[in-house]
Amino acid sequence: MTVDATSTTEGAPGDRRPVRYPEPALAARAARVLRDNDTGAVITAAPRLYPHMWSWDAAFISIGLARLDVQRAISELQTLFRAQWRNGMVPHIVFTENDAYFPGPDRWGTEVAHDGPQHVRTSGICQPPVHAIAVQRVLEIGRRSSPADRADAERFVRDIWPSLYAWHRWLVEYRTPGSSGLIAIVHGWESGMDNSPRWDLPYAAVQPGTGLPPYVRKDVRIVGDPSERPSDREYDRYLWLIEEMRRAGYDQRKIVRNSSFLVGDVFITALFAVACDVLVELGKEFGQEPEEIADLQEWADNARAAVAGSCHSVSGLARDRDLRANRWLDTQTVAGFSALLCGGAPDEVQLKLLSLLDSDRWCGHPDLLAPVPPSVSPMRPGFNPRQYWRGPQWPVVVWLFSWAFERRGWHERARKLRDGGVKLTEDGSFGEYYEPFTGEPLGSTDQSWTAAVVLDWLCSD
Ligand code: SER
Repeated sequence: MTVDATSTTEGAPGDRRPVRYPEPALAARAARVLRDNDTGAVITAAPRLYPHMWSWDAAFISIGLARLDVQRAISELQTLFRAQWRNGMVPHIVFTENDAYFPGPDRWGTEVAHDGPQHVRTSGICQPPVHAIAVQRVLEIGRRSSPADRADAERFVRDIWPSLYAWHRWLVEYRTPGSSGLIAIVHGWESGMDNSPRWDLPYAAVQPGTGLPPYVRKDVRIVGDPSERPSDREYDRYLWLIEEMRRAGYDQRKIVRNSSFLVGDVFITALFAVACDVLVELGKEFGQEPEEIADLQEWADNARAAVAGSCHSVSGLARDRDLRANRWLDTQTVAGFSALLCGGAPDEVQLKLLSLLDSDRWCGHPDLLAPVPPSVSPMRPGFNPRQYWRGPQWPVVVWLFSWAFERRGWHERARKLRDGGVKLTEDGSFGEYYEPFTGEPLGSTDQSWTAAVVLDWLCSD
């Protein structure tokens, strides 16, 4: 695509945003964000707020990168998987040398773990398993790019498949305690939706102990308005959970047994189900071990059944489960639509969810700038349009639903989400998240994964 990154269109009088970029210029700006955030070794998640590699960010980033340079997309995923722990866990942060982020590697102290990588410092938790989805997307793009990219992408899939299998096996072996079948998280950061109301009740039970070492947050100094970020009270709990894990030597069995936070995450479980489906497809095509393919098939079925089993009998919304308190968590967040990502729920539940998604409680809310799901229903008490995962719209979440809907054959729905995602981001700032009514970018700007998914949307057929 030939593009002029500077051409803009003035908004019409009454538009809620003064500037918007035509699609070619938007694509050029997105490409520039990825280039500017490239340290040479990794693409940082964002230039100032997140100066390291994040696990699920890297997956989305590789999808956008593939539109520019397939080889670079491959190397990004290879870098992440070189930091995979020996037990199979893919860590949520791979640290660079930059010390502008807290909590950094010293605070995590994962050197005490037996299973960590030797050559690189990482955090000690994981993030949503979207990597197989990214690998398949890179393959598709590579195949359409050039014979050399095609060959590289195919070799890459063959090489990384066993590592992806090991990562999925880790989630099953260590993170499916109890009978719900949901994949459990031991920290809200593992969900990627750090301070979502989904976690309010489980976090209320986390009591930071007196041994919590003092700390100073850096994020609130970087983001202009601290109220867009999680609160100090929430951070005390985030840091306390790290302290508990560190004291447990990052021994997963101990952590799952004792951590004061253990929640079955329905959104991760749905992503896991569909990522297992993708790995099965890739495994069959690339001649991987039949027993491993059979494992993945079984894990996908179990995860899909767990998501379906979580759906509320009246609303149809999928629910997380607090595994410490043994109760379902009813919140009206975007995770409630998890069953639409992976399928498997009865038809009547699915129809209920689709109609709810279209309703004025969600995408059909008359005041939204772009008709894509906010992180929390604007009708829910406590909805906050500016604070992190408590109301804003997140382009990557929109990408996931549009990708899943396309896969499920719901082309019109997928296209609407794609168009809404582009509308949300056409101001060219590549916000981390957006105020749903005004479209104001919030948190960080020049966020790599936002640029990446926009690039993917703009370059898709
Ligand atoms: N999202 C977290 C942060 O805000 C880390 O995963 O630092």
